[in-house]
Amino acid sequence: MSKKYIIAFDQGTTSTRAIIFDNKGNICKIAQKELTQHYPKSGWVEHDPEEIFQAQNEVFEEVVHTSDIAMEDIAGIGITNQRETTVVWDKTTGKPIYNAIVWLDKRTKGICENLKSQDLEEYVKENTGLIIDSYFSGTKVKWILDNVEGAFAKAEKGELLFGTIDTWLIWKFTNGKVHATDHSNASRTMLYNIKTLKWDKKMLTALNIPASMLPQVQTSASDFGTVEIDEHNIPISGVAGDQQASLFGQGGYKSGMAKNTYGTGCFLLMNTGKKPVTSKNGLLTTLCASLPDGKVKYALEGSIFVGGASVQWLRDKLNVIDKASDTEEICKNTPSSDGLYVVPAFAGLGAPYWDMDAKGAIYGLTLDSGKNDIIKATVDALAYQTRDVLDAMIEDSGKQMKALKVDGGATANDYLMQFQSDILNVEVDRPKMLEVTALGAAFLAGIQAGIWNKKDIAKIRRVDTIFEPKITEHERSRKYTGWKNAVARTKSTTN
Ligand code: G3P
Repeated sequence: MSKKYIIAFDQGTTSTRAIIFDNKGNICKIAQKELTQHYPKSGWVEHDPEEIFQAQNEVFEEVVHTSDIAMEDIAGIGITNQRETTVVWDKTTGKPIYNAIVWLDKRTKGICENLKSQDLEEYVKENTGLIIDSYFSGTKVKWILDNVEGAFAKAEKGELLFGTIDTWLIWKFTNGKVHATDHSNASRTMLYNIKTLKWDKKMLTALNIPASMLPQVQTSASDFGTVEIDEHNIPISGVAGDQQASLFGQGGYKSGMAKNTYGTGCFLLMNTGKKPVTSKNGLLTTLCASLPDGKVKYALEGSIFVGGASVQWLRDKLNVIDKASDTEEICKNTPSSDGLYVVPAFAGLGAPYWDMDAKGAIYGLTLDSGKNDIIKATVDALAYQTRDVLDAMIEDSGKQMKALKVDGGATANDYLMQFQSDILNVEVDRPKMLEVTALGAAFLAGIQAGIWNKKDIAKIRRVDTIFEPKITEHERSRKYTGWKNAVARTKSTTN
């Protein structure tokens, strides 16, 4: 076999990366750029789509040009991306008509209320697997069409295209030849019917979105065109939203497997198999990354909006730490301060509460509370929020969990991983290689390119540490009850 490398593009909320993997799943080269965050108004979050493409292209060129891997040995590119973030662009000029509206953005609350007033909640849940919330792309597309001058008229004439970030990158890298997305990203738009596997006419009508704007939906491991670099054409052979990619990268292609990724937010997904499970406990139903046989599998997802972002808040807004990794030593050396809770509802509350209006809060401050107590309570909140969604998942799926697979930046923090295991009362299984999202996208591309099959994933994944629960049931229950009380006080009164 001559070709033995795959390049993953990992376009996340705060950074853009390119990683070259060899056929054993080892990282050969990595390049990264931070992404500028724009906050034009309270609750609004935007990215510049041109910056995203430029950055992705720069890190791509960097890994290719600084490695000694021959271009002929690169079998394909896998793209994984922050999901739901919405771009609308002009088909002829290729220019976005507005900044990308990021998944965290809350401006479409009014459009959501309007959908609810049309009694669409049950329909949305049953057919798109989602909850009516500004999180998803559908209401963001409508906002752009309603608020950018002349946009709706152009869209009606077929002159505008919509895409999540995968689609935007595919379109740019193929020079406008391919306008496509995959099952996993489509299932996050609130416009895609996860049962019929077609764009949902009723949702398009409710949001007044012309179907001509929508990308073609493909299997995640399939051909999405080619990227030209130094007179070589490399196929894009895998595409998946970042959370489904990491589920796949953790070996979660089998029913019952679950993972939690600690990124900007935290996202806990469990593969539930061939039939969609509709949650009774505030979880989402979503499509897993799909394999070349084209058969889809479903997952339950608990989406926590603020995870690692709260540690960034400690660093950039409170200025109480220099870098995220400082939290580990601080947490280890700070005794637990009973009753102090930080509820990081900075972008409302996601699963299982779904409260767009909630705002962050700190409870239980006393005169001896110091900055280290607040830092520790902020880190602890990642673990408590994960417990909220894991409890919901166990109830919905009827499956008990022995171990939770984890990945993402914050999993390097041993204190957090131990506390996570303590508060869940399950083992927490951390792999050696933490770039699981990129690896998942690489696997999809490599499967399509013929260098791997799905069983190779399990052989490649190696355990680093298993954290086992150490606290008593009494202590666990006392701490978690305090958290639930804090969340109850944080919820908005309008809900
Ligand atoms: O749904 C949003 C999610 O895809 C963002 O992931 O890794 O950029 O925090 P991340």
